[in-house]
Amino acid sequence: RMVVVRAEGGEAINPAIRKSEDKVVDSVVVADLAKPLTPYCRCWRSATFPLCDGSHVKHNKATGDNVGPLLLKKQ
Ligand code: FES
Repeated sequence: RMVVVRAEGGEAINPAIRKSEDKVVDSVVVADLAKPLTPYCRCWRSATFPLCDGSHVKHNKATGDNVGPLLLKKQ
């Protein structure tokens, strides 16, 4: 069963994942990427979705959340 959590206004979107961390960021190393680092948004706040534009910082401050991007790194 998949649970979809949608954030409205000042609600956190991460109710339970790794809440002991200041910001949840994961990395994947990929051999064939055009750029050395590509951040993908996981907070649903980015104006450049699906890419991260740093909007997670404002969201985290406003809600106490800890979401951060998925980083694709060139091998
Ligand atoms: Fe959404 Fe960075 S803007 S994770």
